Amino acid sequence: MAEHGHHHGASKATGFHLKLREGTQSLHDQAESGNFQVRMVSGELARIEFSAFLGQMHSLHTVLDPALQDAASRDPRVAQIFDESHLRLGRINQDLADLQCDGPGEPLPSIAEFNQYVNRKLKESPSSLIGVLYVKEGATNGNKFIAKKLRETLGLGEDKAMGYLDPHGKDQRRCWNAFKEQLNELELDQAEQEECLDAAKETFKLMMTVSQEIDATKQSVTAG
Ligand code: HEM
Repeated sequence: MAEHGHHHGASKATGFHLKLREGTQSLHDQAESGNFQVRMVSGELARIEFSAFLGQMHSLHTVLDPALQDAASRDPRVAQIFDESHLRLGRINQDLADLQCDGPGEPLPSIAEFNQYVNRKLKESPSSLIGVLYVKEGATNGNKFIAKKLRETLGLGEDKAMGYLDPHGKDQRRCWNAFKEQLNELELDQAEQEECLDAAKETFKLMMTVSQEIDATKQSVTAG
């Protein structure tokens, strides 16, 4: 995205946040130019495809939301940064209802595998889930932009179906700035920070895979 291509250099990043940002920068560039994201931004993405995407996010957050809550109860660093505004399941349910969808459907293999990964990390190292949270929160920056386009394309009304893509609404800037500050206040040692970075990379890769798989599903449908 030309007009958004320079955001990584736009503001000063420091500390643990800088580590996560630099360590995932090339993945972000890839994610941003992925087919699915490009079509979402250009407004081509049909309601049925957006619903399929949200259905997959439903499967993901069915595991991730409680895992984050659980991690927060086990690890004070997670508790320090995690709050209820990071939960997405309720919003996804409302979005799917707004879209008048049949329901979330079967999780793709990539989602099922990631859910196992999340549960494994929850047991092994609850603080590593901060890396997943970082990608989920960071992505709201770009998703807000996509939501703006989709509101126009889908024509469902301002307040409909965008709870997942635009969870913070007018508080986006404030939430993201606070989140970045909180990242840097966490007392995580080098090894723990590395674990978070690994989890962040896994999350990026998952989101790209899901987008590709949803694309493929659509192609196989239209191909007959
Ligand atoms: C069309 C697609 C996308 C656009 C236009 C976009 C745009 C942006 C923008 C403008 C920011 C900067 C926010 C700021 O610091 O002021 C940002 C940050 C971020 N985005 Fe995206 N994004 C897109 C896709 C994605 C995807 C698919 C993911 C992950 C699944 C993602 C994850 C992140 C993360 C983690 C950050 C935080 C980077 C940091 O630490 O500063 N983005 N994005």
